[in-house]
Amino acid sequence: WVLMHEDISAIRALKRERDAIILAHNYQTPEIYHGVADIVGDSLALAREAMMTSAAVIVVAGVHFMAETAKILNPTKTVLIPDSRAGCSLAESITAADVRKLREQHPGIPLIAYVNTSAAVKAEVDYCCTSANARKVVEHAAARAGTDTVIMLPDRFLAANTARETKVKIIAWDGACEVHERFTAHDIAQVRAQFPDVTVLAHPECPEEVVNASDFAGSTAALADYVARYRPARVALITECSMADNIAAANPATQFVKPCNLCPHMKRITLGNIRHALETMSEQVVIDPALAARARVSVERMLDIP
Ligand code: 13P
Ligand code: SF4
Repeated sequence: WVLMHEDISAIRALKRERDAIILAHNYQTPEIYHGVADIVGDSLALAREAMMTSAAVIVVAGVHFMAETAKILNPTKTVLIPDSRAGCSLAESITAADVRKLREQHPGIPLIAYVNTSAAVKAEVDYCCTSANARKVVEHAAARAGTDTVIMLPDRFLAANTARETKVKIIAWDGACEVHERFTAHDIAQVRAQFPDVTVLAHPECPEEVVNASDFAGSTAALADYVARYRPARVALITECSMADNIAAANPATQFVKPCNLCPHMKRITLGNIRHALETMSEQVVIDPALAARARVSVERMLDIP
């Protein structure tokens, strides 16, 4: 605890010294989320905030694709990631060459990349989307292109869960989130058997059978909003474990029950390496400016959809 408080005080001082802002994803640990973050949220909120900040330095307490997105939107600012090994199984599952091949195979069909992709992949697609706006982006892209089909990559589960909400046909890639793909309908049946009054909230990166068995599915911000709004007595958050830890204090009337899974990539970010990043101004996210400009088009198209 003493060391943690020391790190928190040092990070707060360094933020002022460096004119830095810390953007933290909802899956960061509570000491980061509550202790040092300036902005917390889902991928969409972090991208929006990254675009709006006037700070000179942006520290992304999240995984690498999130830091890349912040850099794409702020090419002249310094963007730091405390551990550049913080990857994502979705971002790893597809390359720019794969996307070019898909475009060749499906001429005229709009390509939509989940924000959980590399800058190189974002540079090849027409739109970006997040779990908070997937249906909206799919319908917008199809209407603009005059097609009844879109390609959505790389998460096959987000694609399947989005397809259930729209008439637009979705061609999917075969990627999956290593954290959410592990949940099963049996997990949900078990938690319902143990706690008959439980409200089950799932992230749409979960398999369809899990989303089907849940009461509500949405982005991490949508899940937090659901709890704040409806104040269920008992909730199972079918997502990363830190979510429940982070929102527990603001929702004292709700009891959070398992299952949940840890994301090893998100957990690479610690108070210690955030402090080190601000002390040494490393590791800086570097993206080739021409590539970043192309990637920015798909991210901005998403942000421009009302
Ligand atoms: P959200 O955009 O819902 O926060 O999800 C990001 C993510 O990586 C989920 O695994
Ligand atoms: Fe990627 Fe899944 Fe971790 Fe999110 S939870 S960062 S999608 S591996």
